[in-house]
Amino acid sequence: MSDTRPSLDIKEYPDWEVQKNRILTLEEWQDKWVTRKIGFHQEQGNQLLKKYLDTFLKGESGLRIFFPLCGKAVEMKWFADRGHSVVGVEISELGIREFFMEQNLSYSEEPIAEIPGTKVFKVCFDFDSNDLLANIGKFDRIWDRGALVAINPGDRKCYTDVMLSLLRKGFQYLLAVLSYDPTKHAGPPFYVPDAEIQRLFGTKCNILCLEKVDAFEERHKTWGIDYIFEKLYLLTEK
Ligand SMILES: C[S@@+](CC[C@H](N)C(=O)[O-])C[C@H]1O[C@@H](n2cnc3c(N)ncnc32)[C@H](O)[C@@H]1O
Repeated sequence: MSDTRPSLDIKEYPDWEVQKNRILTLEEWQDKWVTRKIGFHQEQGNQLLKKYLDTFLKGESGLRIFFPLCGKAVEMKWFADRGHSVVGVEISELGIREFFMEQNLSYSEEPIAEIPGTKVFKVCFDFDSNDLLANIGKFDRIWDRGALVAINPGDRKCYTDVMLSLLRKGFQYLLAVLSYDPTKHAGPPFYVPDAEIQRLFGTKCNILCLEKVDAFEERHKTWGIDYIFEKLYLLTEK
């Protein structure tokens, strides 16, 4: 069978603004977990992250690593097992509990008094949620996969400004986005073209596209698309 999908040199899709007014509520995200529409979860972890792990960590130890919109990403354990400290933020309590259960980690939970309706789930027991609030400001690394692409397009600038405000000097921010025809699938995940990454990060960061890979899977056929690429960007301080 011949493969008619575009080559990896494909240009960015011009009509990317078609998704700009699309909004998904937090309840809709929580519902995805309840109804098991979690095709985004990668049981084996992200292969691009695996490939660029050393580039990302730069041989440094004891890093604080932030996972925005973390789901039950197994990569959190990869870093914890290497001795780094990991903080993830996720709206679905179900997703968080599944992470700890599937990774065989016992955990404690306590409400964060300052932010009603939120809880901190943690593996180390001498950790005070007040410390989390006090220290959440600074991380050495961010792994952003399934996060910027899940943020409603109209909220992207606010999101990326918060992400950048959380970073320490000398940070590395690894960002995975998806490239597909946005007129065929409403998202999420949303299409985030190169120009958008420049707009969001360009003033503060050097932006390097490390790799672009064919990410097409069977499940993508139901989205009405016939190609999808994953692009990995390394963002560093200007
Ligand atoms: C596409 S999934 C990606 C999860 C994870 N990063 C991964 O790579 O598997 C997006 C996740 O973000 C969560 N989410 C969406 N909006 C959120 C928000 N505003 N705050 C916290 N979590 C959110 C969803 O529940 C979902 O688990």
